[in-house]
Amino acid sequence: MDKIAVLDFGGQYAHLIASRIRRQGVYAEIKRPKTPAYLLKNYKGIILSGGPRSVFEKNSPRCDKRIFDLNIPILGICYGHHLMAFLQRGYVKPAPTKEFGPAELTINDNSHIFKDIDTKQTVWMSHGDSVTVVPRNFKVIASTKDCENAAIADEQMKFYGVQFHPEVTHTACGDQIFNNFLEICNAKRDWDLSEYLEKKIAYIKDYVRDRRVFMLISGGVDSTVSFAILEKALGKERVYGLFVDTGFMRYQEKEQVEKALKEIGVENLHVYDAKKEFYSSLKNVYDPEIKRAVIGNLFLEIKDKVSKDLRLNIDEWMLGQGTIYPDTIESGGTQYSSRIKTHHNRVEGIQELIKRKRIIEPVKELYKDEVRQIGEKLGLPKELVWRQPFPGPGLAVRILCAKKENYPPNHLALERQVNMLLAETDNLKGKVLPIKSVGVQGDNRTYRHPLVIYGDTTWDELKNISTKLINQFKEINRVVYGFGISNIENVQLSLSELAEDRIKLLQKADKIVQDAIFEKDLTKDIWQFPVVLLPVNFNNQGKESIVLRPVESMDAMSAGVYELDWMTVKKIADDLLIIPDISAVLYDVTSKPPATIEWE
Ligand code: XMP
Repeated sequence: MDKIAVLDFGGQYAHLIASRIRRQGVYAEIKRPKTPAYLLKNYKGIILSGGPRSVFEKNSPRCDKRIFDLNIPILGICYGHHLMAFLQRGYVKPAPTKEFGPAELTINDNSHIFKDIDTKQTVWMSHGDSVTVVPRNFKVIASTKDCENAAIADEQMKFYGVQFHPEVTHTACGDQIFNNFLEICNAKRDWDLSEYLEKKIAYIKDYVRDRRVFMLISGGVDSTVSFAILEKALGKERVYGLFVDTGFMRYQEKEQVEKALKEIGVENLHVYDAKKEFYSSLKNVYDPEIKRAVIGNLFLEIKDKVSKDLRLNIDEWMLGQGTIYPDTIESGGTQYSSRIKTHHNRVEGIQELIKRKRIIEPVKELYKDEVRQIGEKLGLPKELVWRQPFPGPGLAVRILCAKKENYPPNHLALERQVNMLLAETDNLKGKVLPIKSVGVQGDNRTYRHPLVIYGDTTWDELKNISTKLINQFKEINRVVYGFGISNIENVQLSLSELAEDRIKLLQKADKIVQDAIFEKDLTKDIWQFPVVLLPVNFNNQGKESIVLRPVESMDAMSAGVYELDWMTVKKIADDLLIIPDISAVLYDVTSKPPATIEWE
């Protein structure tokens, strides 16, 4: 079988590159960056991934230089593009303007790597450095406004470097670029997902041996597909499900999930009401990462408690989880990667159990769209397979908590500069919010301020200005649009923790949104629709604000803003603003990167 090697420099998308290649029917493997060249000589091509570091930093990851003498095509992406240029005696420096999210690419060469691709393309960027001097023998084959050397090639050696990310679905020509690279590599296409399923079932039988599995199941697609794979491998009697009601589910979701799981024939299901434990453990927790650690570890404690109640012998039972690959990589799960956020299934207690071989995760190498394909192959109902994703920690990550106002230093000066930039729109104004949220920029976690902008506008203007503002001002990682806001006299933080009244408030707001989306038949079109509670009040009205965060995505690794029509937004906003505690309705108009899908 022909194979492609992906050297992983710690980028958020390294694994996604391998997945994209496999989707084109060629087997791809992730390798350590320092893999010696002689171990790569039988591969048809090598891809150098992105990564959070700078190539000119001391101790930043390198590859074996001799890979350039193997006579194999090489494609460098982002950090990989920098590294290739650097090792071939080019120059790399911090870019004067950094680029996060969409950028317009102009292709100015008919290189094979751009075969069948129009010369103007929207590509997805996430970088702080750029190649400033192209190595000898390389030519520039594409540029953006802020990045002249956005793609380079040494056609003779078949070395290619791209600053943007062809592996994210938001780079529309990305699959064609990989197709072209595989053609350049002359790789045969003889791999598919059924093979994954067969191999996985054999692996589970071997790894679990005569043990049994107690599986955390939430009714979402990842855990349900994992449960079905385990049942197929081990038989129904050896797989038990545990559904923990954290109290952070949506309105009446617990009942719906229980019913759906029964309907698909999950027999050994234990339901545990853990509201009390979750609410009391999260009192006085403000920091989002601490919140995540508490939640993840509590899941484990509850599993232990239920195991004890059921008198399950700990040596006979493994823990099953529906972990997918984004959970691992965002939690900083590879050698050089940064931690963006700790997913609930990757907290310390779990890492410990993984080391002790007590965890089984049937879909941990896959992305959401692949899990869905497997779900369909296994015959699970379509409504379940295509349910919108819901994070393990549930509404807990969508309720922001804050102890005191937190503005960036010199925020008034920042606001003046922001408004100078907004003046080019004629109609928009902006205000920095006194709270922070998590983002992902240049493969690193950011924890920065949202900017609210308001005034008459259009979707195109909102999206363009949002990218421009975030690329220009490093204090900001999100832009929200203040729907219906005509003036902001003051913005204040409402002191807040994860109290029950706030959970009820968000459940109520979330239900209003979900009902409106269901009525408009948009549930399937929108990939995910977080509704967020922000302890911020505008103009002294109401205590809290609601952020609408509908996105389109394929695999959660990159996401674009879903553009609801303004009449639907108005209906939702009108219904939300009737609730006395709600001060404003904000619409998140930021892509991922630079923001993440969830807030927290
Ligand atoms: P972000 O916010 O990082 O989220 O863009 C990517 C996807 O992951 C989901 N998510 C989680 N899922 N446990 C989960 O099972 C978690 O701890 C977790 N955190 C985020 C998020 O909803 C989105 O689909």
